[in-house]
This record gives sequence, C-alpha cells and structure tokens, in this order.
Amino acid sequence: MFTSKTIDKFNGLETPFYYYDLEVLKNTLSACRDASAKHGFHVHYAMKANFNSKVIDTIQTYGFGADCVSGNEVQAAIDHGFDKSKVVFAGVGKSDREINLALDADIFCFNVESIQELFIIDGLAKAKNKKAGVAIRINPNVDAHTHHFITTGLDENKFGINTWQLPDVAAALRKCDNLQFLGIHFHIGSQITDLEVYKNLCTRINEMQDWFEDRGFPIKVLNTGGGLGVDYYSPDNNIADFEAYFQVFKNFLNVKPGQEVHFELGRALVAQSASLISRVLYVKNGQKKNFLILDAGMTELIRPMLYQAYHQIENLSRRSESPEAGKSESLKYDVVGPICESTDCFQKDVSLPESFRGDLIAVRTAGAYGEVMASGYNLRDRVGSVYSE
Ligand code: LLP
Repeated sequence: MFTSKTIDKFNGLETPFYYYDLEVLKNTLSACRDASAKHGFHVHYAMKANFNSKVIDTIQTYGFGADCVSGNEVQAAIDHGFDKSKVVFAGVGKSDREINLALDADIFCFNVESIQELFIIDGLAKAKNKKAGVAIRINPNVDAHTHHFITTGLDENKFGINTWQLPDVAAALRKCDNLQFLGIHFHIGSQITDLEVYKNLCTRINEMQDWFEDRGFPIKVLNTGGGLGVDYYSPDNNIADFEAYFQVFKNFLNVKPGQEVHFELGRALVAQSASLISRVLYVKNGQKKNFLILDAGMTELIRPMLYQAYHQIENLSRRSESPEAGKSESLKYDVVGPICESTDCFQKDVSLPESFRGDLIAVRTAGAYGEVMASGYNLRDRVGSVYSE
C-alpha cells in the first residue's frame, strides 16, 4: 500500500487525511463479486461503512446494490447511480420524511423493524397510491460472538422484531393493502470472524421462512444481512475470505426455487482499502510513559476509543526502506490524539521505532466506519481524503 513514491507524496500534503488505495478496493470488490456470483447471490453494499464519493462510485460499477439506513443514504445511493431496484432501507427509526423519500424513489424494499412501522409505511404508501415492498427484520436471538457494542441480533437489542411477535406481524400484513411482502431480513452484528455463527443464523432463517410460508406468506427474498469481519492484525494483502463465507450459506441455507438470497456487506468490502495518515506533532516523555501526540484523534477515527478496536499503527517515516530507518531503537509509546478527552488514545504501549516531530503515522485498516464516523468535536476541520492513482 505504501511505496516510497506514495510516502514522498504524503510528505507534501497537509495531514490528517484518509488515504484510499483504490487497487486494494477493486481487488476486494472483484473477489466478493466473483464469489457471490458463483452461487447467484446478490450483494448490497452497506453504505454506512463508507460513503466517500469516490469509494461508492467505484463500488457501484461492480453491480452491487445499496443497503441504506437513512433517507440521505437512499438519496446518495440513487445520486451515485445505484439501481433503485437494488436499494434497500433498514433502520429502527425511519422518519415519515425518509419513508416518503424512499417511496418516491421506488426503492426495492423497506426492511421493517417494528409492527408500528408496518402500519406507518402502509399509510404513507396509500397516500401516494403505491405499494411498498417490505421485508420483516427478525431478531433471531443468535449470538454473533463479537464486541458487545456491535452485536445486534440478541433479544436485548433494539433491532428487528422478536419472534414472539410474529403472529401480530402476520395479522398486520393481512391488513396492509399497500404493502407487498417480499421476505425476511436478518443482521446479527458486525466484525464476525467465526463463520460458525452464520451456520446458526442459517438454521434460524430456515425455521423462520417455514413459519411464514406455512401461514400463506411466500418468501421471495432471504436477506441475511452483513457482518463479515476482517483481520485488523494483517493490514496488507488480506482480503476477507468471501468464498468460505458464501459457501456457508450455500451449504446451510434452505433456498427454494425462485428465491433470491441477499447480503449486506459493509466492512469486508472497504476496511482494508484505507489508512488514516497523520503526523507526529509532539513527542512527550512523561515519567511513566512516552506519548506520541498526533494531529489526528478520535474526531478522525473513533473506533479505538468507542469499541477498544485494534488498528495497526506504523511510522511511515521510519520504515526499513526509508533513509532514517535503522538508526533508532524501538520504543514504547501511547499513541494519542489532540482532543480534550482522556479516551483520545489510539493504542497504548505501541512498539515503534524512535519517533520524531513531523513523522508520518499510518493507522491501518481504517476504510470501514472511519471517515464516516468523523466528527467536528473541538471544532476540528473535516478530515480530508487522498486517493492512489
Ligand atoms: N446491515 C445492517 C442492517 C447493518 O446494521 C449493518 C451494520 C450492516 C448491514 C453492515 O455490517 P458490516 O458488514 O459492515 O459488518 N461502527 C461499528 C460497526 C457498526 C455496524 C452497524 N451496522 C464499527 O466501527 O465497528
């Protein structure tokens, strides 16, 4: 990802910024497209992972659909050329304005997260004399074995409709003339690395589709959600194992003739393609700790502070091939940002070559839930983006 030429280019740029390696992105997208096409599976890109214009323009050209969680994401998907018949809209709190926007855009499907929402969409569709495609997001109570903060498929989570409410869902669907029931939707969490979890999900999906079909609701779409994790410890050349992932569904999901299987991948498509690039502002040697104070912090990448997430940190100015390298011993630093919060720390006790003011630091595997979660706290400037090519 970082040739000497790339690092030279960084030296002339103002930091911090996200650096997107479009070749890594394209290789990842091809791998996913090829692995899913083998089984005739449909992938919708989860826009929330990264809606940088250049990134979504690239993703769109691979023929993926878009999974959106706000009216603005629906609009962005359409503006960036995603086919409206491949746009789905999830979220526990869709406002009337957002539902109307999606109805006007004739999107494929609303993934509905409560019984009340079913009636609201039905009413708004009726007012427009339209039929809205809906899938029921079911909370399957399957443990994703991931960080507590990014698990979504347990009874205690706010997402989806719990199975004990399904009889009421069926009754509601019978009353709603302006809804077209398309199928069932699941999403149990993010950064899932144990594929066994998806096997359990398949079992639940099979049970749920039988439940609906037994009651006279044919299922056209089985939407399994997203969540496939990436290896944050190997940032280079490490595309997620899409083959193995899709094979689990091929083996364990009971797909009937005419049914479509949909996936909503975010992280696995974009995480490896970007790094946050920043500079060392100060090196502060405390009595107990050495601090490397960067010009980027939680306002640019909040994952370490919010989920104790690991992102590999590299000093690009002291790499083995750079002229300064090899002159210094390795030291331990707490790598921190400039924000006025004690939690504004990327990682503690990181072993790095001795580092100096002005050194370029890369925080790796930052393409998913990085730039999109940036904030203006402390009245910070909006983080920039730089692309390979
Ligand atoms: N579908 C639905 C309904 C979702 O809520 C999500 C993510 C996805 C698909 C895509 O999941 P993915 O393939 O990216 O795991 N900010 C957190 C992750 C939050 C995920 C939210 N939902 C993080 O930085 O780890």
